[in-house]
Amino acid sequence: MAKTIALIGAGRVGQTLGRALRRRGYRIGAVVTRRLSTARAAVRFIGGGQARAGVDATVGDAHIVLITTPDRQVAAAARALGRLKMSWRGRVALQASGALSSRELAPLKKHGAAVGSLHPLYPFPRPLRIFPRGVVFGVEGDRRARRQALALVRALGGQAMEIRSTEKALYHAAAALVAGHLLTLADLGTRALVRAGVRKARARRALVPLAQATLACYARWGGRAWTGPLERGDVDTVRRHLAGLRRLPPQYLETYQTLARAALSLYRARSSKGTKRLRRLLER
Ligand SMILES: NC(=O)c1ccc[n+]([C@@H]2O[C@H](COP(=O)([O-])OP(=O)(O)OC[C@H]3O[C@@H](n4cnc5c(N)ncnc54)[C@H](OP(=O)(O)O)[C@@H]3O)[C@@H](O)[C@H]2O)c1
Repeated sequence: MAKTIALIGAGRVGQTLGRALRRRGYRIGAVVTRRLSTARAAVRFIGGGQARAGVDATVGDAHIVLITTPDRQVAAAARALGRLKMSWRGRVALQASGALSSRELAPLKKHGAAVGSLHPLYPFPRPLRIFPRGVVFGVEGDRRARRQALALVRALGGQAMEIRSTEKALYHAAAALVAGHLLTLADLGTRALVRAGVRKARARRALVPLAQATLACYARWGGRAWTGPLERGDVDTVRRHLAGLRRLPPQYLETYQTLARAALSLYRARSSKGTKRLRRLLER
């Protein structure tokens, strides 16, 4: 028999996972948000489920309860679920936050649920109709919750990556560095190119392949893929970069200097003399 999943919170992640899991044979039960209108819209997108404003007895149909509210609402949602008159024995409660651990679900664990977290390492600026293959999910929690999470990941054609429950904040900081911050970096580069006379769409089309090629090299060689004037110890070029960036709002220079200092501390450059001079230049 198909397992039933209740969704608590049904925005970008809840709708995407709900729709994908329904298409892979899971039954969608309660779809709960705070407003009936958003729950109904989510049910339409998912193609199944019962829209509810606030948790109620319909959650009791579910084998798996998946909380996909914003992080700041996860604990409140767990408390509301814990107040329901239902048995949690044999059920699994999972939440999709990157930074929060299964500890947020203590009110449900207390009632006998297995608890865990299942975080897709993937950006969802809007709900996705087609779930991409190969998405990595950070997974932690009780043994039974982890086993259930792995089954969901398999059904979604993804890959599970187990992480320490105590290090979720660090795990999520890593994800934010290479997702949100990478986007900011690409956008700063695009805006700088626009100042150099390139149209915005053209600038993006020029820089994205450069970023992709760099990441492809990084995937193969790690930090040994490092190239550029810092790696070559080319002080004059870096001085020219700094002069150019000084003419832009301060965040351009600050970002460049911070990342350049990080690179010099992480990687081995070609010339130690050049590195010393670069460190001095970047401290000014
Ligand atoms: N977006 C991403 O790229 C992404 C990626 C990976 C993981 N995540 C994680 O996934 C979770 C959800 O993020 P999201 O981007 O999908 O958020 P979202 O688009 O803002 O959706 C949040 C949903 O939760 C509902 N909600 C809010 N408070 C609630 C409560 N107390 N009880 C029940 N429903 C409630 C909202 O509807 P109402 O306002 O009508 O209640 C809405 O349906 C977060 O933990 C986030 O960290 C997000």
